[in-house]
Amino acid sequence: MLKFVNKIKNGLKGSVTIPADKSISHRAVMFTSLAKGKSVIKNFSKGQDPLSSVSICKALGIDAEFENDLLIINSTGKLAAPKGILDCRNSGTTMRLMSGILAGQSFNSILTGDESLSNRPMKRIIEPLALMGAEILSNDYKAPLNIHGKNLHAINYTSKLASAQVKSCILLAGLNIEGKTSFTEPYISRNHTEIMLKYMGANIHTNNNSVTIEKSQLEPRTIEICGDISSAAYFIVAGLIVPNSKIILRNVGLNPTRTGIIEVAEKMGGNIEVLDKKTVSGEIVGDIQISYSDLKACIIEGEIIPRLIDELPVIAVLATQAEGTTVIKNAQDLRHKESDRIKAVVTEMKKIGADINETPDGFVINGKKLLTGGCEVETYHDHRLAMSLYVAGLICEKTVAIKDFEWVDISFPEFDRLFNSIIL
Ligand code: S3P
Repeated sequence: MLKFVNKIKNGLKGSVTIPADKSISHRAVMFTSLAKGKSVIKNFSKGQDPLSSVSICKALGIDAEFENDLLIINSTGKLAAPKGILDCRNSGTTMRLMSGILAGQSFNSILTGDESLSNRPMKRIIEPLALMGAEILSNDYKAPLNIHGKNLHAINYTSKLASAQVKSCILLAGLNIEGKTSFTEPYISRNHTEIMLKYMGANIHTNNNSVTIEKSQLEPRTIEICGDISSAAYFIVAGLIVPNSKIILRNVGLNPTRTGIIEVAEKMGGNIEVLDKKTVSGEIVGDIQISYSDLKACIIEGEIIPRLIDELPVIAVLATQAEGTTVIKNAQDLRHKESDRIKAVVTEMKKIGADINETPDGFVINGKKLLTGGCEVETYHDHRLAMSLYVAGLICEKTVAIKDFEWVDISFPEFDRLFNSIIL
């Protein structure tokens, strides 16, 4: 689908309730599937990626049904051997977390994915799982993954990467085995797994950058899922760069391992205010108010990178409107997401007139630059590229046509409707 985006004349105004967090939705369905009894998940994401996790849990014998706005899970606490291949479609989180769950089962399973997922690196999970005694056959460390269920043993693993998917994979494998399994990462990545496993009664402890888990039987729970700050990010950036804007975003997850975008917006001089905070199902949630701002460039590097990794494409759009040179470093893993997001962002943003260049591990962006638009841009079948280019299109002089815009449905099917509701 070709999506045409035009320059906003009178600013963005009003409020938007941000839909459910994708990362937390994946975890909610997987973890309640492992808990014996009935769990209720409120506000489960309608994105295609979390729905891939639901399909796979069902294929593993779990009774998972939507009833109005609730996802009801009934589980015996045990998974059953699947009858066919488990298709993770575009979802890296599904593949990497399910591998940790499946490696220690008493049956074999095969995980596949679409073209993009089949090109993403799986060595990062296969290697530590193999150290635990797992047997996983792959296509040169890529999907499909042929997992032979084995009795695993606990390890202490130090990862070179700060990755919540790798961390979660190892912790989920450790949930089912005797002894203490620990995972240490260079910087803290998102900790939704740790929070939810604890909320469901697991024996799990965090100490700085290390997490330790022991064999635990999870208990069923009611879990309410907060809004996704990665989805809110498109509205945050749009509110900051579209002249005359003033918007409020409601029910946004504000877990500190995810709020790097707010810190960057503040550092750039953005008018952004967190209005009210509370805790829901173990996660911090609040409302955010954003208004159009004069922005200045900044350096983004180091420990903050895992806390804003998915927001970097739209932060690149933000930086085009900041006075000076913004440098984004240490983000080499962006090349291994749904697309090579460094190359893709630079190629497409140049087309619409941005002064942006690629480095091996990030971007150099010179602002403040008037974006011209008046062209067609590619999304590389990457939802975050599509949404970032839409936000850029809102300030382009001429119409931008975004190809394959339907890919936004991977994480945020409500995107277009919610943006239209704040365009005057
Ligand atoms: C995710 C972790 C991050 C993120 C991805 C979702 C998760 O990936 O980019 O969109 O839900 O754990 P990495 O763990 O590969 O950094």
